[in-house]
Amino acid sequence: MSTGTYAFRHAWELEHRRLELVQEVYDPGTIRHLEALGVGPGWRCLEVGGGAGSITRWLCQRVGPSGTVVATDVETDFLEQLDEPNLEVRRHDITVDDLEDGAYDLVHSRMVLQHLPEREQALERMAAALAPGGVLMEEGLDCGSLVAGPAPDSAFFDDANRRLMDLMAKAGYDPDYGRTIAAALLGAGLGDVGAEGRVAVGLHRTAAAEMWRLTVECFRDRLTGAGVLSDDEIDRLGAFHDDETFSFLYPTMIAAWGLRMPSIS
Ligand SMILES: C[S@@+](CC[C@H](N)C(=O)[O-])C[C@H]1O[C@@H](n2cnc3c(N)ncnc32)[C@H](O)[C@@H]1O
Repeated sequence: MSTGTYAFRHAWELEHRRLELVQEVYDPGTIRHLEALGVGPGWRCLEVGGGAGSITRWLCQRVGPSGTVVATDVETDFLEQLDEPNLEVRRHDITVDDLEDGAYDLVHSRMVLQHLPEREQALERMAAALAPGGVLMEEGLDCGSLVAGPAPDSAFFDDANRRLMDLMAKAGYDPDYGRTIAAALLGAGLGDVGAEGRVAVGLHRTAAAEMWRLTVECFRDRLTGAGVLSDDEIDRLGAFHDDETFSFLYPTMIAAWGLRMPSIS
């Protein structure tokens, strides 16, 4: 089984912590959208790339005993720690492995396809897994908003992040992904497409600031190995997290959704 080119390292000792921070920052908005889309008792849900599993757990509890949740990932050990009676955890690579056709009322994924060059085919596979009337909600970041607030070192922060984004893009990451999702849903044949963005602000010692620090830290070896940033520059970037006068705007999290229209006969 291929694991695509997903660039974060599951085996890294801080990866679970990084995923917890992702959840802390983004779950409230994700849940708000899922509630607005009507996810409720009895729904059959598919969560692609479930990570540390908080949205999977929320879905299990939301759909209740009459509903079901399939949560996939290429690395399933975090998901396997969940203890929900209506959950099936599946080791599955969205870039190559099949899904059931027409089986789900909800297909959701967050911060997964953005990393994968095969994202268009993956989205088509996810759309085909929807039952008629089912909804696909896809979430990903748009790095257009990543910018430092006014500070003596803001130019360094912005330049270092640009270099990090360039390195990630070489591994298949699309930093502009967020703005493309709604069009991709239309391209996959979905209707009633909508989208909304939300921007975290990285303030002194917040989850958002720590998440960014760990993102940079995770790439330390590759950044230094490729001569993109030195150890000192990475330390300087990490030190912003402890600076109470500093703030920055995070990449925008775009949530986009669309319906598989029932066929008219
Ligand atoms: C940034 S994490 C996001 C986790 C979770 N969706 C969230 O937002 O909290 C990306 C997840 O996608 C998984 N992943 C990477 N490549 C994948 C693939 N080809 N198929 C399925 N999952 C994949 C990773 O193992 C990781 O758990």
